[in-house]
Amino acid sequence: MSQSDPTTAAGRHHAPRTVSEPHGIQAHIVGCGTTPVGKLGARPSTLMRRALERALGQAGLPLRQLDGLVAIPSLAEPHFMEAHFLATQMGLLPRKDVIVRTIDTGGAGPITGLLEATRLVHQGWCDVVAVVAGDAVSSLSREEFLRRADQTCRDPEGELPSPVIPHGYDRVAQWQMRTYGTTREQLALCSVLMSRMAARHPDALTRKPHTLESVLASAQVAPVTSTLECARRADGGAAIVVASDRFLSQIGHTRPSVIVVGGGEASGPLYPPPVIDEDMFSCEEACATAYAEARLNVGDIDFFGLYDCFPICLVRAVEAVGLAAKGEGGRWIEQMAERTRSDDWNPADVPVNTHGGLLAYGAPWEVPAMYNVIEAFAQLTGQAGSRQIPDARRALVYGNGGIFSASAVAILQRA
Ligand code: CAA
Repeated sequence: MSQSDPTTAAGRHHAPRTVSEPHGIQAHIVGCGTTPVGKLGARPSTLMRRALERALGQAGLPLRQLDGLVAIPSLAEPHFMEAHFLATQMGLLPRKDVIVRTIDTGGAGPITGLLEATRLVHQGWCDVVAVVAGDAVSSLSREEFLRRADQTCRDPEGELPSPVIPHGYDRVAQWQMRTYGTTREQLALCSVLMSRMAARHPDALTRKPHTLESVLASAQVAPVTSTLECARRADGGAAIVVASDRFLSQIGHTRPSVIVVGGGEASGPLYPPPVIDEDMFSCEEACATAYAEARLNVGDIDFFGLYDCFPICLVRAVEAVGLAAKGEGGRWIEQMAERTRSDDWNPADVPVNTHGGLLAYGAPWEVPAMYNVIEAFAQLTGQAGSRQIPDARRALVYGNGGIFSASAVAILQRA
């Protein structure tokens, strides 16, 4: 199914919002870095710095080479103007030639940040931009985490109980079940599938695949959501470095890189409206814009890094990117679960979230979409080990913020 028509299911038609290069400058992702995920006991800003050091290390660039920094704020240690805080702490400021921006589109932040870094490079404003995120939500107590998380997406007039975010997604999951016949088991299979993926990633939190029975039997969090169907709370940092082709050729950079060939962003309400319908979703719009800009469609993509904070998010994403028709996302997940039943499945047959996503790799609040980018980078540069999709050339990465409140999509291509 092609998604290149920018008219959404809701009938909205948008003007293209482009990340394409007006001055003929190309933006390359040249380095990625992560810290471990888990309960780390370190401050988010420390995790951001560690991840950035690793990303710069992979790129082979010193910190002083950065002339742009985009940072995503944390929940555990929020700062006014996060990027300025970090840049000042690291000694990147004061400097007149550095552009520093904080982006808060929730879990979409890393992809919005990647698109912003790409624009800064395309406009010729910056040559080397880092995008950084880090959080320590696992090191917060349950009570403190929920106190902060519940405030983020609570409808002041609404009645969503705590935990607000799982209940918000649960409402949408129930709607999808009623509207399209998605089954409870298909939702639970999202977690089974992601845990099978994670089991192949040495850094993932979930080491042992779940069974359908274990997911359904785990503690109930909301009417159709169990604990094992929640984004797996974790601490962690992640960063990428984006550089211009003119800078890379100046310094004779020859390491593997990935270019950004399309992007799209769209917005939905902060919390589910009283009546849920197709209008509240924004991923379709963001995907359509990204495909149109890249002049590609679903058949051209070899790897998909899709946001999966709860099963319904993954189900909607596989529909939005065009892997499944509208309403068929649950069936598609079921088919993928069938394909991965035996241990020797081929990653090319299930080219989604080969790292395990939020459900199984780990979910440090607004960081995880960066893992989608980092896994895409690994796939496109042939460094994904036993998860490698042979000859992967193009990837689509998607981040989602709030409760379907922000969608950002980027299409990446091996340079
Ligand atoms: N897979 C495997 N194990 C999991 C898991 C998963 N997906 N989720 C939780 N667990 C495990 C935990 O690791 C923990 O194991 P241990 O006891 O061995 O440590 C156990 O299950 C219990 O989990 P919690 O410690 O988290 O349990 P809790 O009772 O403190 O809280 C909860 C339960 C309220 C459901 C909490 O887990 C929660 O709120 N999760 C959702 C987090 C969340 O909302 N993240 C944001 C998603 S939305 C988004 O990403 C968009 C955005 O803009 C940020």
